[in-house]
Amino acid sequence: MIPFNKPYYSGNEKRYIVKAMQTKILTGDMSMIRDCESFLEKKYSFPKVYLTNSCTMALEMAALIADIQPGDQVIMPSYTYVSTANAFALRGAEIMFVDSKKDHPNMDESQIEALITTKTKAIVVVHYAGVSCDFSIVKSIAKKYNILIIEDAAQCIDSFYNEMPLGSIGEIACFSFHETKNIHSGEGGFIVLNDSGLIGKAEAVRNKGTNRSAFVRGEVSKYEWLGLGFSSMPSAITAAFLFAQFEQIEKVQKRRLNCWNRYYKKLNGLQKNGNIQLPLIPEYASNNAHIFYFVCNSAQERIDLIDFLKVNNIQAVFHYQSLHASPFYKLKHDGRSMENADRYSACLLRLPMFYELTKIEQDYICEKVIEFYSRLSKDKC
Ligand SMILES: Cc1ncc(COP(=O)(O)O)c(C=O)c1O
Repeated sequence: MIPFNKPYYSGNEKRYIVKAMQTKILTGDMSMIRDCESFLEKKYSFPKVYLTNSCTMALEMAALIADIQPGDQVIMPSYTYVSTANAFALRGAEIMFVDSKKDHPNMDESQIEALITTKTKAIVVVHYAGVSCDFSIVKSIAKKYNILIIEDAAQCIDSFYNEMPLGSIGEIACFSFHETKNIHSGEGGFIVLNDSGLIGKAEAVRNKGTNRSAFVRGEVSKYEWLGLGFSSMPSAITAAFLFAQFEQIEKVQKRRLNCWNRYYKKLNGLQKNGNIQLPLIPEYASNNAHIFYFVCNSAQERIDLIDFLKVNNIQAVFHYQSLHASPFYKLKHDGRSMENADRYSACLLRLPMFYELTKIEQDYICEKVIEFYSRLSKDKC
């Protein structure tokens, strides 16, 4: 079976884990955790980074740092992972979902302004497959109404909007290092604070709501409970694993991009024939080759294709299910239809995409996808 994902290993993980163990400091600001944070701050010019246990945790921290209160409204796409919405629903926010674009799973920015009310506190953008949203629109709305932008950049390591790293544009951004991501630590993530006014609060939030970091720096004589918080830090063991991945990021990105381009070239004929919709990379966005997806013409076609690929030892998978229609939120949603989000929920399919995927495996996958569509057109004749 060609799996959908194989986690990448750089080869140095074990060595760095042993090194971290030898330091005998496995937590906190003096360990490899700070090395990883500094790496990200330097490489992407992020003002402040805190490693977290997951992107889910980073989003929950973001909602607390942004002071989301019961009854506040938060705008976000319906076509996203549960964690995007759950983080804000946990604080009692009303989620105002936005449909995707016809030509891209990202939220349709032209629908945001009509949803703004006096209760709107934040816009959460999700850059699907690491491809940026159109910030020119989102930023002007946020500025006009004085609303925070929070980037759910779970899939966005090393991706850009007009040369600016994703995660550097909203006031807060959240990334994932889950093992399905381009580089990873099994589970993991980080939060970026681009607004210096939020850093102090974030430092307490990551430390169970206390000023423990100030105590460790010798700035206060004891540490106290200042407000609500989380225990969000990974251990230095996780950070050591992650650091070994950071060192190979250029190599990983280059290989994934070659892989992505090969898929695109080989499957472009199917798009030209109207069989599938291939991914769009707008001119303002870079491509970090996180996901290779395409959109089938119907839900049944996707089911049949996944089955056909499975029989041929290829694991292809679908992705998100629209959150406005989820069992938890459908009765709370205001009833607006989200036809593009629903279409991506039913028809979007992801092909295997990982560092070790060989050209031979990729050619075999493309051959089988093309065979499926040629059989389909013969059946229709
Ligand atoms: C858009 C989005 N946000 C958040 C997450 C949650 O990430 P994590 O698994 O690191 O908590 C995911 C998961 O991949 C995601 O796709």
